[in-house]
Amino acid sequence: MLEIKKITMENLDDLVFLEKNCFNNPFKKDDFVYEINDNPFSFIYGLFLDNKLIGYIDYWITFESSTISKIAVLKEYQNNGYATKLLEFMINNLKSENNEVHFITLEVRISNIKAINLYKKFNFEIVNVKKNYYENKEDALYMVKGI
Ligand SMILES: CC(C)(COP(=O)(O)OP(=O)(O)OC[C@H]1O[C@@H](n2cnc3c(N)ncnc32)[C@H](O)[C@@H]1OP(=O)(O)O)[C@@H](O)C(=O)NCCC(=O)NCCS
Repeated sequence: MLEIKKITMENLDDLVFLEKNCFNNPFKKDDFVYEINDNPFSFIYGLFLDNKLIGYIDYWITFESSTISKIAVLKEYQNNGYATKLLEFMINNLKSENNEVHFITLEVRISNIKAINLYKKFNFEIVNVKKNYYENKEDALYMVKGI
């Protein structure tokens, strides 16, 4: 059974495992503790397949804008439409629960073709290139979608 649920402290170890599986410069445990407990702008949801955490999305809401901080799916579960489900869930949430939000923004590494294609599928548009944005000096695409 596939479910999307709010991430809680109970999921912390699984979330840290997922993060390490997906990113070269992963969020650390403390970063997630902050996102779950302390960041008033953060919304963090997990995708569970038969109660196993296989993906997550972390987005922030500030006034009329929402930002995708992170989205990831365990490597062995990628290319099955799971990130698509998480993004659809986020957009539906924003539309149904918060009619103040009018656009979604994100930054993505210019080399991350998979993620860029995912965002383009949802009609995100590249509005800017942020030079040397990442720790390794890689550029970021700044993408925006109206909702
Ligand atoms: C980016 C990521 C979240 C996509 O997750 P996923 O579950 O595999 O994505 P989906 O199966 O829903 O695919 C969505 C779209 O991504 C694109 N995509 C997927 N695999 C791709 C590939 N190998 N090459 C190019 N585009 C690809 C396609 O547009 C696809 O849509 P389609 O299947 O309708 O053509 C996943 O690859 C991941 O966790 N990567 C590591 C973390 C990361 O880089 N996150 C994004 C930055 S925060």
